Amino acid sequence: MANRILVLDAGTTSTRAMIFAPDGTLERVAQEEITQHYPEPGWVEHDASEIWEKTLSCARQAVGAAGQSIAAIGITNQRETVVAWNRESGRPLARAIVWQDRRTADFCAGLKEFGHEAEVQRKTGLLLDPYFSGTKMRWLLDKSADVRAAADAGTLAMGTVESWLVWKLSGGTHITDASNASRTLLLALDGAQFDEGLCELIGVPRAVLPEVVDTHGMLAVAQADWFGAEVPICGLVGDQQSATIGQGCLSFGETKATYGTGSFVLTNKGQDIPHSDNRLLGTVLYQENGVRTYAIEGSCFVAGSLVQYLRDQLGLIGTAAETEELARSIPDSGEVIIVPALAGLGAPHWQPEARGVIAGLSFASGKAQIARAALEAMAHQTHDLATAFAADGAPWSRLRIDGGMSANDWMAQDLADILDLEVERPDFVETTALGAAMLASVGVGVHASLAEAAATMRGKTRCFTPQMDEKTRNSRLERYARARAAA
Ligand code: G3P
Repeated sequence: MANRILVLDAGTTSTRAMIFAPDGTLERVAQEEITQHYPEPGWVEHDASEIWEKTLSCARQAVGAAGQSIAAIGITNQRETVVAWNRESGRPLARAIVWQDRRTADFCAGLKEFGHEAEVQRKTGLLLDPYFSGTKMRWLLDKSADVRAAADAGTLAMGTVESWLVWKLSGGTHITDASNASRTLLLALDGAQFDEGLCELIGVPRAVLPEVVDTHGMLAVAQADWFGAEVPICGLVGDQQSATIGQGCLSFGETKATYGTGSFVLTNKGQDIPHSDNRLLGTVLYQENGVRTYAIEGSCFVAGSLVQYLRDQLGLIGTAAETEELARSIPDSGEVIIVPALAGLGAPHWQPEARGVIAGLSFASGKAQIARAALEAMAHQTHDLATAFAADGAPWSRLRIDGGMSANDWMAQDLADILDLEVERPDFVETTALGAAMLASVGVGVHASLAEAAATMRGKTRCFTPQMDEKTRNSRLERYARARAAA
């Protein structure tokens, strides 16, 4: 019986395809890098055709001759990134605008000045920041002649990356799942479909948007052209929600932090719509038979991308893994502090104009101090979130971590030390893909429920316990707060 799940994980820096067995074993992986385009300071773009072609090529490599054993596809994706395409040709009409892109900062500031933020936050759980998809869609409608012409001709389709991939795989089904839809500024957290009033406020015609569907179930069908036979698409979910599910945070209050390109903390808030008084986000965690489970989220835009920056732009290190050795080679960062505001500051500060800072340099500051400060910044950013979550009445009792960077033991220990909290890391850190596999396996009926999928598919974990003395912790936190004020 076909019981394997093909997961497509279309992330910011790479796209991957993975095959999961029903017990959660990862059987095959194929991966390709995605080209990053930076046409202007603060702008980040992707080529949507490249995302599609590389995702399909990875999927075909991963599936190989095992096509018959694939029961369903689960898709998880970088959220908020916007694609515009022509419904007739299926071709992109402009470069995709990536979630990190800050070009709509002025538009957001204008909406805030007119006093719209409180209402937008009440309805969507989000804030008026260029991070979210809606203002990026508006920018394309205003600035791209091809997008505008398609809108006028009725041939425009817009969506986030999972919508784009579903359209291509299915040959024209236009859907988005509720977790991705909840990142657009266009969905009310209690509304089944995109909200007419919000679409009008942001200036995006509802007709170009996809239908909002569950995160799992029989959602669409991939055409036989791609894998030799039709395959149902049974899971669709934003990557951070996916990691939350993959970490088994299925009960109220359970919290995970993913250290990928950015770092994102989500706490399961059950079925009541969450509200933050401390500039965190309310978001959909998953939607089952039309019923939503929500999360509260803190999003930091820069995590692994800081290490990548040290490697690719500054040439300070040869590989990301070197940072661990460098951090261990010295007793402290020699007062060097990095504030990773390279794409502005996200939660809980929301300062799109902030820029990165390296503070406390002396002649003794070498690459070890800078690499260590970069890793320390992860704990500092997470500590800012911990403070906001606690002030919102959602303190963490332990933190489950994952994502590429979490494989760094030094960083995991530093997190436990600075947060003064037990930090738990699964041996299998690919929880983003695992979450999508869990959803698709429930969607297709390989597992009866998410609880059953979690019990069967999740593996062992390792715990890091805090060891730092209070004086050291406080002095680190104070120095970081001072440097952040200068960002
Ligand atoms: O909200 C942006 C997020 O979905 C990107 O995730 O894993 O590419 O850092 P990642």
